[in-house]
This record gives sequence, C-alpha cells and structure tokens, in this order.
Amino acid sequence: MLRADFNVPLENGEITDDLRIRAALPTIEWLVDHGAQVTACTHLGRPKGKPDPKYSVEPVRRRLAELAPGVELLDNLRFDAGEEGNDPAFVQALIKGFDAYVNDAFGASHRAHASIVGPPQFLPSAAGRLLAKEVDVLLGLREDPTRPFVAVLGGSKVSDKLGVIDALLERVDALVVGGGMSFTFLAAQGHAVGDSLCERDQIETCTRLLAQPKPIHLPIDVTALGPSDEVRQAGVDLPAGWKGLDIGPGSAAEFSDVILDVRTVFWNGPMGVFEDARFAAGTRTVAQAMADTKAFTVVGGGDSAAALAQFDMAGSVDWISTGGGASLELLELGDLPGLKALREGRT
Ligand code: 3PG
Ligand code: MG
Repeated sequence: MLRADFNVPLENGEITDDLRIRAALPTIEWLVDHGAQVTACTHLGRPKGKPDPKYSVEPVRRRLAELAPGVELLDNLRFDAGEEGNDPAFVQALIKGFDAYVNDAFGASHRAHASIVGPPQFLPSAAGRLLAKEVDVLLGLREDPTRPFVAVLGGSKVSDKLGVIDALLERVDALVVGGGMSFTFLAAQGHAVGDSLCERDQIETCTRLLAQPKPIHLPIDVTALGPSDEVRQAGVDLPAGWKGLDIGPGSAAEFSDVILDVRTVFWNGPMGVFEDARFAAGTRTVAQAMADTKAFTVVGGGDSAAALAQFDMAGSVDWISTGGGASLELLELGDLPGLKALREGRT
C-alpha cells in the first residue's frame, strides 16, 4: 500500500500540473522492480467526509495508468470521514489485504490522518524515496545550511506564516519579505499602505519581528492598482484607493542581489498576484534570480512552485518541494506526524 499525495491542481476535470504524480514514480518503480504489487491511495481536495464527484480521483487514475501501468488507485481517502478523523476502524479497513505500507505522501505528512499515521502501527512500513528526499533537503536547511542562508517569503498573510517566520529567523542570516504580507510589515514601520492587503492585528507582531537583530528586507517600491484600474509604480506609501499587488522593480532588483549573493536560499510565496501579467514581474524577477544564483535553491510547494512552472523555470532550481504546508511545518518544527508514525512503527 502506497500512500501518495496526488492532490494535484485540476481545472475542468483536467490535471494542470502532474508534478506530484511524477514525483512518486521513483518509489513506484523501485517497488515494482522488487516484485511488489502496488496499490496507491491519496486524498484529493477537501470533500467533507463523503463521496463528491467534484473530487473524484478519476483524472489522477488516468494519468497514473499512463505513467505507472498496473498500479491501482483507491478512491479519494477523504470520501470517508474516518480519514481526517483518524478513525481506528477506517485504518483497519484501509490496510486489509496489504503486506506492507510505504508513505511517499510528503505533502500530506503534516496531517495526523488515518492513512498517514495509522498503517505504520500495524504493517511493516517505510518512507518512500520522495518523502526521504524532501526530509533530507528541508532538515538540511534547518540544521546545517551553507551560509549565508536567506529565506524569501511572500504570499498574502503574515498570520499563516508566523510560526515559520520565528523559526526561520533563528536560522537564516537574513529574511526577504515580499507579496501581500509585506504590507503589514510596512504598516508596522509607519507607512501608509492605502488599500493594500494588511492584517492590522498582526502589526504588533511585525514590529516585534522588525526589532530582532536579523535583517529583514522589505519592498522599497510597489506596483499598484488605482481606483480606476490604472497600474502604476509607486513608493511604499500609497494613498487610499491604491492597492499594492506586486513588488516594484527597485525591490525586485534588491531582492535579486540578495539571492545572487548568498549560498542557500529557501523561497516560499509569490511576490505579487503573478497570475495577472500586470503583477507578475516581481515574482518573475525573483524566480530568475533563483535560477541564476550559484546558491543551493529550495522552493516551498504551492504557489511558488506554480509560479516557477508558469515561467518555465521549474528545472532551474535545486529542489521544488511537493509540500506547501508540510515543508513549512517541517522547517518550523523539525518533525511531522507522518514521520513520527514511521519512526515509532509497530508498538
Ligand atoms: C496540500 O495540497 O496542501 C496537501 O495535499 C494537503 O492537503 P490539505 O491542505 O487539504 O490537508
Ligand atoms: Mg494545504
């Protein structure tokens, strides 16, 4: 039984990025080469504990059949409330008929769900190759990064990433902050951020973070959208009605210089609303610096991986994690429920 994270992005029933399926192939090939009959299982999306055709794994099943013929795929694990509820009866039903369990679902290993933490208590179990490599790379950043080490963070919310920001600040030599979350930092410095995204209740936290000794690079300019849909480059003080949706060219150049200058970079979160061509330049420039730098470059999953794919640069960084939440939690805490379950094994 192979627990994979085939929670891939879908549009109109079509897979738009099959990275997570391809990433499990080395493990599948190894198992098949060693004579195993492999049945895979995954969750897909967030159905509420009951079958929902919107979250059918059928598109994944079709792609898997092309990439790994003969490997079966169970129904969406989250069609049963026992999965997220970590129900012992669901664990038993799941492992029935299997001789061994392999967890290669790095992207879901921060969830203490039945298929992640249950089987290792009952079956001989192992980590798959993807899971092992992810842990190796991310714990390497946590424990022994080649210095200087910088983390580049973006995305919309400070509140989502507070834990990891604190943990990273203990380990990095500098932090670079762009994207929506930078406006809460800028507001904490007293800038007027206009109508930009800003978490007022996180301003005090940002003030505390800015007061610690590690340098935090913030945008020095932004690309903003005005009240009648005009787009303009501006400084970091914006009038009401204006919304910063990307870092500006000055910030992008500064962030690039930082990335080009160091030995290790971890990047999570876009610098702007890159899906909109008018606000993609900041994220693209950072992606290009990630591609050009001699540093060891690691990209956290989710949006930053999607951005790299959109810019055709996925092949130019050293590692793209298949986990968004999981990579951040592993960097923050140094462990995940799925890893702990494998270590503890049969009790
Ligand atoms: C993900 O895409 O984040 C993982 O597959 C986990 O999914 P979840 O966030 O719905 O638990
Ligand atoms: Mg998630």
